[in-house]
Amino acid sequence: MGVAGDIALAVIGGTGVYRLAALEDAQALHIDTPYGAPSGPLRVGRLAGARVAFLARHGEGHALPPHRVNYRANLYALHQAGARRVLALNTVGGITERYGPRVLACPDQLIDYTWGRASTYWDGEGEPLHVDFGQPYTPHFRAQVLAAARAAGLEVVDGGCYGATQGPRLETRAEIARLRRDGCDLVGMTGMPEAGLARELGLEYACLAIVANWAAGCGEGDEITLEEVLENVAAASAGLPSLFRELLRN
Ligand code: HPA
Repeated sequence: MGVAGDIALAVIGGTGVYRLAALEDAQALHIDTPYGAPSGPLRVGRLAGARVAFLARHGEGHALPPHRVNYRANLYALHQAGARRVLALNTVGGITERYGPRVLACPDQLIDYTWGRASTYWDGEGEPLHVDFGQPYTPHFRAQVLAAARAAGLEVVDGGCYGATQGPRLETRAEIARLRRDGCDLVGMTGMPEAGLARELGLEYACLAIVANWAAGCGEGDEITLEEVLENVAAASAGLPSLFRELLRN
């Protein structure tokens, strides 16, 4: 059991998802870690009768850009609080046909294009942490997320490859063309090192990607605007509380 007792589900919110309104009797847990402070307090409360934690990845006022998020502290704090499974909400751009704006997807692969981020808990001391990462998202947790979505009547695309870019700028069309050639279906800035750190901690981890826009050069529009991103995230997120409720039945 962690410092705060076991948590049935932890949710990390991305751009546009800064609160879990459905969380009842939420208390703020301020946790410090050997890796520094997480992005903000863990909001721990009840949902569908279960103990659930929520953390806003970018901070509750979105003060932290993707390359400044302390991913190590975030995952460590959730682990310390007693979380064993983490559902990461990631706002993304869509590259391939099935992943247009407002689509929800549960990717099964990723490619890491980020650099310079603290991406491991292993700094050369203690047991080597060459964790297996062939399947970066926990297969049976992914299956539970997909089943919960079905039970909630939500369409979620099963699978896809998430390309994690450094940001904070959006990509060039040539960069997106390269990601497409590499096999990426989705592009976002926060998928790594989060998934790798979760694996190092032995957490069950899945990503629910919220497609906010067509990635550069993939849609009709010339420019991607923050307004478009936030509007699409809000629309696509409407069904998430019912998905969480179904997930907590498992
Ligand atoms: N690229 C990278 N990250 C993103 C995008 C994008 O087009 N949209 C939302 N997050």
